[in-house]
Amino acid sequence: MKTAITEMFGIEHPIIQGGMHFVGFAEMAAAVSNAGGLGIITGLTQKTPQDLANEIAKCKDMTDKPFGVNITFLPTLNPPDYPAIVQAVIDGGVKVVETAGRNPQQVLPHLKDAGIKVIHKCTSVRHSLKAQDIGCDAVSVDGFECGGHPGEDDVPNMILLPRAADELDIPFVSSGGQADGRSLVASLAMGAQGMNMGTRFIATKEAPVHENVKQAIVAASELDTRLVMRPLRNTERVLTNEAVERLLEKEKALGADLKFEDIIDEVAGVYPRIMMDGDMDAGAWSCGMVAGLIYDIPTCKELIDRIMTEADQIINERLVGFMKGKVDA
Ligand SMILES: Cc1cc2nc3c(=O)[nH]c(=O)nc-3n(C[C@H](O)[C@H](O)[C@H](O)COP(=O)(O)O)c2cc1C
Repeated sequence: MKTAITEMFGIEHPIIQGGMHFVGFAEMAAAVSNAGGLGIITGLTQKTPQDLANEIAKCKDMTDKPFGVNITFLPTLNPPDYPAIVQAVIDGGVKVVETAGRNPQQVLPHLKDAGIKVIHKCTSVRHSLKAQDIGCDAVSVDGFECGGHPGEDDVPNMILLPRAADELDIPFVSSGGQADGRSLVASLAMGAQGMNMGTRFIATKEAPVHENVKQAIVAASELDTRLVMRPLRNTERVLTNEAVERLLEKEKALGADLKFEDIIDEVAGVYPRIMMDGDMDAGAWSCGMVAGLIYDIPTCKELIDRIMTEADQIINERLVGFMKGKVDA
């Protein structure tokens, strides 16, 4: 399958693995890229720009296919050294950057000068248009279903994707709630040129996380995620657990008085304990509603091949069948 996204990024299939804190290591990105998608290393998971440079070099040893780096702009008082992070990406010869959080205006000129394609992940049509205006090459449109930060507008992809298609001139991929061939065909039908997946890629053999994390995703249903930090306007969709229920109790009790310090135990620095140690109640960790559609732990290649085969069947058999008057069950 060829789309504007496969052509822009030089990949075989229009499937991207979104940046994920303490998941997007070289092993994850290389496995997705080797399977014909676009794997993405999560820049801020690396402690220093030098560590990121090492991770990029490691990924290059593991794949000769294109891969990207995610640069997330966090709402924090002590921002990471973004210029040094960008320099590590440029020096590493990376060809694609996924930006997220605030719009990437501050780093865009450096990335563009280095010939890097920038896909900005955002959760609304207005932020997508802003990304287009400042010169991003593509957008990843992240619906309310998504794992991680869905923004504050709460518009699900069934509306958000066609709205993006109505407004945008640059190509976009769907993000949030995508899991299989049905997701890909639906995304393409709604105007996207491919899809981005987060949660689905964690439940793969190569994902460099503790087995407990993969099993928790397989065991979860679409009813098992919660929205936390809404009172702080920093909403995050996470898998429910003891820490999350405690956090929600605090949110309820404190109401508008809630401050970040009140929930620091449940959210700060918990990712290594969850992703590396498999301590599943250590704190709040991002997970999408799509967990309800995840039943197994395939390799990245098995997953991507299955998605493409399923998409082919849906398009060429089921949908073409309907057009020819063939009614199925
Ligand atoms: C565990 C986890 C960690 C994530 N960390 C980041 C991150 O650091 N930066 C980022 O831009 N997005 C992050 N995301 C969001 C994903 O890149 C992607 O947009 C999202 O997972 C898509 O929704 P889905 O999970 O329904 O596929 C994270 C998602 C998950 C599940």
